Amino acid sequence: MARPLCLVPTMGALHEGHLALIRAAREKVGASGTVAVSIFVNPMQFDRKDDLEKYPRPLDRDLAACEAAGADLVFAPDPGQMYAADHSVTISENRLSTTLCGAARPGHFTGVCTVVMKLFLLFRAEFAIFGKKDFQQLAIIRRMVRDLHVPIEIIGHSTVRESDGLAMSSRNVRLTPEQRAAAPSLYRALSAAAGLLKLGERQAGPVLDAAKHYLAQTMTFRIDYVALVDAETLEPVAVIRRPALLALAGFFGDVRLIDHIELHADF
Ligand code: PAF
Repeated sequence: MARPLCLVPTMGALHEGHLALIRAAREKVGASGTVAVSIFVNPMQFDRKDDLEKYPRPLDRDLAACEAAGADLVFAPDPGQMYAADHSVTISENRLSTTLCGAARPGHFTGVCTVVMKLFLLFRAEFAIFGKKDFQQLAIIRRMVRDLHVPIEIIGHSTVRESDGLAMSSRNVRLTPEQRAAAPSLYRALSAAAGLLKLGERQAGPVLDAAKHYLAQTMTFRIDYVALVDAETLEPVAVIRRPALLALAGFFGDVRLIDHIELHADF
């Protein structure tokens, strides 16, 4: 495999957001480098069996999309190739993963760290690229790389949105037409609350209240969390002085969606 190599780890069901990662990977490594996409629905990171079973797996379509986006190779292993039947070693991050999505999904980030480290070791990639939409995942992977001295550079890529603002996600296809029509209100809630910063608000309380108030009008959405956290430590912040994230997660039916918006005090 020609170097440098940029790995694009995915679970398939590729959408425009993933394709943007593949194109950005190509830009990073140039025409002579290698862009490798992994497609693996990692059982270890699913806390709900039904979610794992229902996860879309359109492999043929994904392979065609990878090729069209300019990937050089796709690695699509079976669970049995990634995990020995009696595997017993995992990688856990123990601080950043205790809050937000980690609090609601026990073991999820251990599954993510374990599979991502396996992929890093298999590819020995110079670079790996991840979407910023999964901001907690990105922060945890950066922490793993820092704390375990993994020789790789992690690139974060901005969230790609539908024209109505909904963050692209492989789970969006599971929304009913009514839920899909309501889903853009997640980003609208975040944007409306973030707008308070432009008016001079720096206290987290009113910003959180504004987002919750807006979401409460999205009748079919069940909030898991709405949080205002430091962009680096993911600790809750009371006053916005450093880059922060206003983040939310919740459910339309059994479909879990997340989104966030970056906040800067100089907004
Ligand atoms: O973001 C994802 O799709 C997955 O969590 C990842 C990084 C591919 C690990 O399975």
